[in-house]
Formats: sequence, structure tokens, C-alpha cells
Amino acid sequence: MKTAGGSDAAKRRAGERAAQDVTDGAVVGLGTGSTTAYAIEALGRAVDDGLEIRGIPTSFQSRQLALEVGIELTTLDAVDGVDLAIDGADQVADDPDTTGYGALIKGGGAAHTREKLVDAAADRFVVVADPSKLAGTLERSVPIEVIPDAHTVVADRLRELGGEPTLREAEGKDGPVVTDNGNLVLDCAFGPIDDPDSLATRLARLPGVVEHGLFVDLADVTYVGTDDGVETREY
Ligand code: A5P
Repeated sequence: MKTAGGSDAAKRRAGERAAQDVTDGAVVGLGTGSTTAYAIEALGRAVDDGLEIRGIPTSFQSRQLALEVGIELTTLDAVDGVDLAIDGADQVADDPDTTGYGALIKGGGAAHTREKLVDAAADRFVVVADPSKLAGTLERSVPIEVIPDAHTVVADRLRELGGEPTLREAEGKDGPVVTDNGNLVLDCAFGPIDDPDSLATRLARLPGVVEHGLFVDLADVTYVGTDDGVETREY
């Protein structure tokens, strides 16, 4: 369910722009995915140059990368707060005339539960994206992490809500994707999502759902890397 497309140069510009917002002494949420990876690498270079930060990874992947580039790690329960979180998205609602402006679909890498926890805890949540992620209306399938026992029951409830759920299958392993938290992921197609807030509320109510990939009213800014620069969306 990862998004295809988006040039590496555009992702790099977005990621490196976000890293510039990190100040000395900050506690930084480290998101997951190929765009955020550029931010983490840039932060690693800044640490080499003397920047002192502590990072809170949102996945096995971001933890590994942060360790590789020399970022000191910490955890949510060991800090008083998170100054800033940097994270990617699978789709960003980009029509300022709609109520869902700035809402996101995340979870293409099955990391959205910890991502939402850390991104929501941050004083400032910075999204990094390339133009392929922008949409007038969110319409990608919504990743929904469920405890293993719940996947058939939640799938039935999702169909009642008008969705078409699919259990995410692993690549390089027989059977389903198992998240960093030991759970499964249903990717649920709803068609165009005109009211992300309402759908988010309905999904969050379903027993067995650990977390869904709709991020509503969480982002503070999106940096969109382009072929020749970075565009900024403030919310
Ligand atoms: C991880 O589960 C996702 O939420 C990622 O943040 C999202 O898929 C963005 O990844 P890319 O930057 O690789 O597109």
C-alpha cells in the first residue's frame, strides 16, 4: 500500500527543509517512510556538526535509521514533551476551500499507530511530501490497524460503513503484514472522503481497531518538495 511515484529529489527537498526547523536541544518525533528518511539523514549530519537533539522513532525503520546516523534516542515516557515531529503522508488534502484541508491518509508503511501517537504529542507537526501526494479530496484506501482476533469482525463493520476492506498481505513472507505492534492491517476503500473528521470518528469507535490512518486537524505545516524548490502549506 505504499504510494508509488514522487521523485527522490522532491522528497529530499521536503525532508531537508523540515530538518532545518529543528533547533538545538529539541525532542524530535521521527516519522516513517522514504521522505522522512531524508529528514533523519539531514538531522544526522547536523548532529555530526554539533546539534544536540533527542529523537523519538515511530517505527523499527526510523529507529534503525536514526541509530545509523547517530541521533540519540528517547521515548515518550522519558520526556516532558515533543517539540516537533516530522512525518510523511500517503495523501494530503490540499483544497483550502474544504473542511478537511490539511488532513492526511497515513499508514502505507503500517506505522500509523505510533506515528499518530508521536505526531499528536508534538507541539508542531511538520508533514513532508512530494506533489504526487496532494489531492483535492482524500480518496486512497485508509489503513486500519486491528488486533488479530478482530480482523473479520472489523471488516464486517467497515462494509456496513460503506467501505471495502482488504487484509494487507506481506511481501517476502506468507500471510498478512504484521505491524511493529504485532497487529494486522485492513486497507479500506471508501471512495472520495468528503468529511474526514466524521469518518475518523466512526472508525475510532469500532472495537478491535487499534488506530486508523486518517490524521485530521493534526498537521501544522506541509512542506511539498517540487522539482525546483519547496512549497509551504500552513494550517
Ligand atoms: C508509514 O506508515 C506511512 O504513514 C508513511 O509515513 C507514508 O507512507 C509516507 O511514506 P513515503 O514518504 O515513503 O511516501
